[in-house]
Amino acid sequence: MATERTLSIIKPDATRRNITGKVLAMLEEAGLRVVAQKRLQLTKEQAEAFYAVHKERAFFGDLVSFMTSGPVVVQVLEGDNAVAENRRVMGATNPVDAEDGTIRRTFAENIEANTVHGSDSAENAAQEIRFFFSDLEITG
Ligand code: TYD
Repeated sequence: MATERTLSIIKPDATRRNITGKVLAMLEEAGLRVVAQKRLQLTKEQAEAFYAVHKERAFFGDLVSFMTSGPVVVQVLEGDNAVAENRRVMGATNPVDAEDGTIRRTFAENIEANTVHGSDSAENAAQEIRFFFSDLEITG
């Protein structure tokens, strides 16, 4: 299996409820290792740029407002098949569709305040990691 890196964001609904450690524990239990991590407040411009792929969608404005409503914790996760493994432990976008035992099924409030982001491909992971981190900030 290939060791990969992926970009994870613990979203404002989780920082607001002080459950970032519980989310991180589920990521670690899934075999993912934090190789970079920082807590920050996204600006409107940064959130719009990060989610630019969704800019024509009806939910875009609300998504940007939510993602800037409080601090986030951004992480680079490393592990075997990290992109797919992270998506598996996150669960479906809408928590009502997410499998039992997933982060979103356990913690998400709704489809918007859904606790975590995870890159959906190796290509997007590389781009999203560069968005937040320099090489110097990542150490296995
Ligand atoms: P998406 O990339 O489809 O999902 P995922 O986060 O599982 O990769 O959507 C990005 C985020 O946009 C999603 O996590 C929450 C928000 N969103 C909504 O608020 N409403 C929606 O109907 C969808 C599809 C997404």
